[in-house]
This record gives sequence, C-alpha cells and structure tokens, in this order.
Amino acid sequence: MNQPLFNTLSQIRLLPVVVTEKEEDALPLARALSAGGLPCAEITYRTQAASACLKAISREMPDMLLGAGTVLSCAQVDDAMASGASFIVTPGFNPKVVEYCVDRKIPIIPGINNPTGVEAALSLGLDVVKFFPAEASGGVAMLKAMSAPYTQVRFVPTGGISPANLFSYLALPCVLACGGSWMVKSDWIAQGQFDRIRDVTREAVNLCTR
Ligand code: 3PG
Repeated sequence: MNQPLFNTLSQIRLLPVVVTEKEEDALPLARALSAGGLPCAEITYRTQAASACLKAISREMPDMLLGAGTVLSCAQVDDAMASGASFIVTPGFNPKVVEYCVDRKIPIIPGINNPTGVEAALSLGLDVVKFFPAEASGGVAMLKAMSAPYTQVRFVPTGGISPANLFSYLALPCVLACGGSWMVKSDWIAQGQFDRIRDVTREAVNLCTR
C-alpha cells in the first residue's frame, strides 16, 4: 500500500458510493458530503452523467478525493482519469482493466470476494482490494477468516454496509475503509435533499470516530 491516496482513504475511513443521474447534482452533492465531514466520493459509471459529474467536482473542489466506480472497461478508465478521478474502483476483478491501470500506475481498487481474487490482486502488485458484495459474501466473519493469511492486504468492504454494521467492519485491522451508499441514496440526490445527505454523512463520520 504505497500510494499516499490510500493513506488518505484510511484516514477518512468511509467512501460514499454515488449514483448521479444529472450533472447539476454533482456540486451540491459534493458540497453536502464535504460539509458532513467526508471530503471524498466514488462516482459510479452506472449512469451517463458520471464523466460530467467527475469533471464538475474535480474542477470546483480539487481537494476532494475523487474516485470512479463501477468501471468495467479500459475506455472507462481513460474517461474517468481524463475527467478528474484519481483512482478507479471495480466491482469485480477484470484482469484487462486491472492490468491496464497497473501498467499506467493508476491507483485501482478491484473487487474480490474470495482468496483467489486476493491472490490475483497480489500477483499484480496490489495490496488494496474492495470486498464486494460484503454482506452477501459472508460479512465480517468471512472477511476476518479470508484476510487471515494475507497480512499485507487491506480491504474496502462495500455492499450492505450500514450504520448498524459499519463499526464491526472498521474494527477489523485489515479494513482500510468502508464503502457505502446509505448516506447518498439516489432518490435523495434526485429530490435535491442535500441537507439530509449532509446530516446523514455527519452521523456516519461520527460513527467512524466513536
Ligand atoms: C457498490 O457499488 O459498491 C455498491 O452498490 C454499494 O453498495 P450499497 O449500496 O449496499 O452500499
């Protein structure tokens, strides 16, 4: 784990996973996250707006730690990096996409949910992976057992994380940070409920520091 980026993420401890339908929601959303104490976001390539949202946030809020999520192709890696992302997150381990990033020294957090995936990452020199989908894959018990042999690997559990189980993940020494969407629900974004996003973000940040 040599990138300063991962050090920053390990201090923030929480990565909001964002789905935005409209470019104009990007800045109010980023400001709400930042005001709630989370100066970071993973903007997912699940909508056409991802690229424009990354551009808007990186231009106006250059201090925000900005990642691109649900990246499924090398073309999306290029698009995300050109739009201002500083790291890539993938739901699964696609060797083409992962090698593309590694070759270009683009930080990537690939998704895995078994030891084979962990070793695929290690074989490419990566020691930070996303544990996805965390809860459906066995949750804290699974992560604890799976991480035991890989003392150098840090995990970003994502998928089914909520205020109810956040702390049990963060308490594991192998966990770098947790990903989640509960503080940035798509319908809140669509309805412009940015104050609510700020408040729930603040509660989530408080849970991380308790
Ligand atoms: C992701 O892409 O990382 C997940 O969809 C986030 O999972 P969650 O919605 O259960 O937090």
